[in-house]
Amino acid sequence: MTTAAAVDALVEQIAERGWAVVADFLPGEIVAGLRTRALALDRAGLLAPARVGRGTRSVERTDVRGDRIAWLTDADSAPADRAAQVALASLRLAANRAMQLGLFEFEGHYALYPAGAGYARHADRFRDDDARVLSIVLYLNERWGAGDGGALRLYVADDAIVDIAPNGGTLVAFLADRFEHEVLAGTRTRLSLTGWFRRR
Ligand code: OGA
Ligand code: MN
Repeated sequence: MTTAAAVDALVEQIAERGWAVVADFLPGEIVAGLRTRALALDRAGLLAPARVGRGTRSVERTDVRGDRIAWLTDADSAPADRAAQVALASLRLAANRAMQLGLFEFEGHYALYPAGAGYARHADRFRDDDARVLSIVLYLNERWGAGDGGALRLYVADDAIVDIAPNGGTLVAFLADRFEHEVLAGTRTRLSLTGWFRRR
């Protein structure tokens, strides 16, 4: 699937049911470049324990979430970062055209879950800030196997869950205020680029 076809498929799924998943959102060499970057950040000690809550009131809670993250900045201008930002911008604009979501900007971070780490069931929108409209997760893992765990569990309805394996190149998107979700523990390091399209 080309990125353009993936964008169309994502927008169609989001419009229909509020969440979407496609494989191969980006070419394999771009995904590999992003993976290399995430691992380099980790080796350099630049991934910090993720926090729960917003701003000055946020706290470290490894019982709730066990990932380490580094926020994307404008300095992330390696070719793979740029390609990812271009593809995400085309998704943002296509979603705005189809659904008038008013998506204005992207905030995101690399995330690394060590083996055994997860993220307990939660919603992505803060109680006192509704700027996050669409949640995005792009997985960066090579050859993720059925026995490796680490699924994203999406609570799509009162009596229905969907488990999504974090295969490299797979992109998941869902409306941030509608779907609670959790990250199940995996048996190996789990990498992603995760973020949110925000409105003003
Ligand atoms: C998050 C999150 C899901 C995933 O970072 O808020 O829910 O699959 N991540 O990594
Ligand atoms: Mn989340």
